[in-house]
This record gives sequence, C-alpha cells and structure tokens, in this order.
Amino acid sequence: MRALVIGSGGREHALVWKLRQEGFEVFCAPGNGGISLDATCHEAKSVDELLQLALRERIDLTVVGPEAYLAQGVVDAFESCGLKIFGPSKRASQLECSKVYAKLLMDECGIPTARFRLFDDPVQAERYVERCEFPIVIKADGLAQGKGSYVVMSREEAFNVIDLLMRKKVFGESGERIVIEEFLKGREVSLMVLTDGKTCVPMLSAMDYKKVYDEDRGPNTGGMGAIAPAPHHSEELWRSVKERIIDKLFPALEKQNVIYKGVLYLGLMVTQDGPKVLEFNCRFGDPEIQALLPLLQSKLAEVCFAVIEENLASLPIVWREEKSVCVVIASGGYPNDYKVGFEIHGLESVEGVVVFHAGTKRQNGQFVTSGGRVLNVCATGRTYEEARRRVYSEIEKIYFEGMYFRRDIGLV
Ligand code: AMP
Ligand code: GLY
Repeated sequence: MRALVIGSGGREHALVWKLRQEGFEVFCAPGNGGISLDATCHEAKSVDELLQLALRERIDLTVVGPEAYLAQGVVDAFESCGLKIFGPSKRASQLECSKVYAKLLMDECGIPTARFRLFDDPVQAERYVERCEFPIVIKADGLAQGKGSYVVMSREEAFNVIDLLMRKKVFGESGERIVIEEFLKGREVSLMVLTDGKTCVPMLSAMDYKKVYDEDRGPNTGGMGAIAPAPHHSEELWRSVKERIIDKLFPALEKQNVIYKGVLYLGLMVTQDGPKVLEFNCRFGDPEIQALLPLLQSKLAEVCFAVIEENLASLPIVWREEKSVCVVIASGGYPNDYKVGFEIHGLESVEGVVVFHAGTKRQNGQFVTSGGRVLNVCATGRTYEEARRRVYSEIEKIYFEGMYFRRDIGLV
C-alpha cells in the first residue's frame, strides 16, 4: 500500500514515521530533510500538483498535515477523483479558517467559549478597547500560521495590535476582521477528536507548551513541546466536552449541510466553570501529534480508513499506557527573526528517542537548519519524569549554532 503525507513539518514526519512502521511505502510533499530519509519527497505544492502526484503514484491513502491545504480544498479535489484522503472538506475547515465563523457558530448553539465582539473597522475596535478591562485577547479572523492571536495587557498594546492587523495588514486579508475576546483563566488542554461524520472518538489528550520561554514566559509560538496524556486528564473532562461541545457542534454543522470528517482539534481552557473552547483546528496539532503517535498502538492507517469509510464506530483504538514527552529544538531568535543554514551535529549518536524533523534540509549529505522549529525529540516512559530524562539526556548530544529549547517540558 502507498501513502502520501502532505506538509513539511514535525507533524508530517511523525505521520510518515508511523505509516512506514505499518508497512506503507510513503511519499511526502513537500517534506523536509529528515522526512526524505523515510519517504520519497516531491516538490508538489498546489492542489493540482498534489492531485497529479497522487494519481501518478497510485496513492491508496493521503493524510493532510497543514490547514492551508484544507482551506484550498485539497480534500474536495481528491474525493472528486475517487481518491481516499483524510481531512475535512473546504467548507468544514471554515471552523479553523475563520475565527469569526467559529465564534458565531458557537454562539448560535450555546457552546461555551470566551465572550467576544467582532470588528471589521479599526476605529470601532479602538473605541471598544477604550472601555475594556485588561487583559483581553485579540485575534485575526483568518489563517496566520498560528501567530494571529495576541494576549493584550494594556490599551496601548491593543491599539498597536489593531493597527498591525487591520491597517498594516501583517496577515493580509486574515486581519480584515478581528475577534476581541475575554481572557480566560484555567488549564489549557488539547483534545483531538476523530470523526467520520457519524461517530466521534477522542484521541488521548495532550498539552502543548505555547510560550517560547520556560515557565510559560515570552511570546506565543507554534509550540515548543508537548506531553501526552495531558496531566489531570480524566474521563469526566471528556464527558463534559462531549455534552457541552461535541453534541452541540455536530448537529449545528449538519443543519448547515456540513459533514465533518477527519480530526477536529479542540483547544480548550478548562476553567472553574468547565471546559471552554479557545479555538478549533481542523487537523492534527503540531507538536501534539509528535507526542501522541508513539503512544498509538493501533494502526494510524486503519484509523484514517475508518474515518474515510465511515466505520469509526466499529474500530477499537488502543493507546499504550505510558507517558510521552516531545521537546522542540528551535533556531535562536524564533518566533521572531532567526538565521538558517547551520549544520546540525550529533543526530547519529542519539539513542532511545525518536527525532522528528521540522525545519531541516539535506545539503551535501548533511542536515542543516531551514526553519524556526528545527527538531522534535520524543520519548515515552512509565512516568513523565522518565520520558523527560530520556529526551533531555539525548538533546545534550545534538548541536547547531544558536539552538534553543525549553528545559521544563514535562515537569508536571
Ligand atoms: P488561538 O490562536 O486561538 O489558539 O490562541 C493561541 C493561544 O493564545 C492559546 O493557546 C492560548 O494560550 C491563548 N489564548 C487564546 N484565546 C484565549 C483566551 N480567550 N483566554 C486566554 N488565553 C487565550
Ligand atoms: N500546537 C497547536 C496547533 O497545532 O495549532
């Protein structure tokens, strides 16, 4: 069997790694340096190029990594040619691609989320923040590579963010509309839910470390590490998420004739009043999935086929009863400016961990850095501490100029 993974980050390397273990011949587009050792990489980027690639290589299963391809309708295009692809349609991916759409939908069906106001005029937005108590959260409506949400502590900062998003348009059209919402206090949990449009099955929960520095200081990033399961995860949390969120969301989508198939990522804040939705993503979390896949005992391909073929109810999904820790090694300066092109040393000597590549490429047989998040070092253990020790002892062997990682991932 032949699989195609679309994307080029650590998440995609983890998907490639798992599918390869399951006996697939794996292709990836565009892939990265590390992925090129485990899969045949192709330059294909546009939906049409990807479709031609899948048809030419007689791909049996395609798994989509990043949201941008979903927003471009890659799933619709593949399905219309009879190809099996894991991910929601363009329409269903609006849940991630427009925060305004997601907020209005949640409001309409009573899903708990931060109280919010929507603006398409910067002057109105500024007038509103004059009266706000801080902190507040300001979010660009559209996709912004995970960088479109700002926790804002003061009026001046709020003016600045409104200006950046709506006048300077740092994220282009994505910032033409914004959401301004209440700041929620609580514990953040990432919960991914598999759904075939009829049945919803939660994956193991995970926790992402979003801030760049230890003890959750500094600006937000795409994620500096993840652990799974999330500490304090309980059956009760899932029951409450199901009742308060899932059982309202899917009927509301159905009413709009939207069938959601794939994985739905719920970014949750577990508050004193129960779980509230911070965001929906329409794909696997990165780096959460790098922590989760080493714990997945079932075959990922069977899970994907069950979703596509609407058989999820009859598939038991089994997880190892262990803890998993993933630490991201980033380029110095990330999430702001950073340099690339540094040789990465020591990868050949690491043991007992799995290293998923993100921003790397191969140059003259050597790995060099090519992005902000460079490597994901992952291990499992009976406890978080055991998994942590494994990861951090092996990171000592890896070196590239300016490398940076958090030292507190998995300290629970
Ligand atoms: P988002 O782009 O919506 O996922 O937001 C990115 C990060 O900003 C989240 O993971 C939270 O850490 C933080 N965040 C977003 N919305 C809120 C909120 N309403 N209250 C507190 N923190 C938030
Ligand atoms: N780790 C958060 C995300 O994938 O959006």
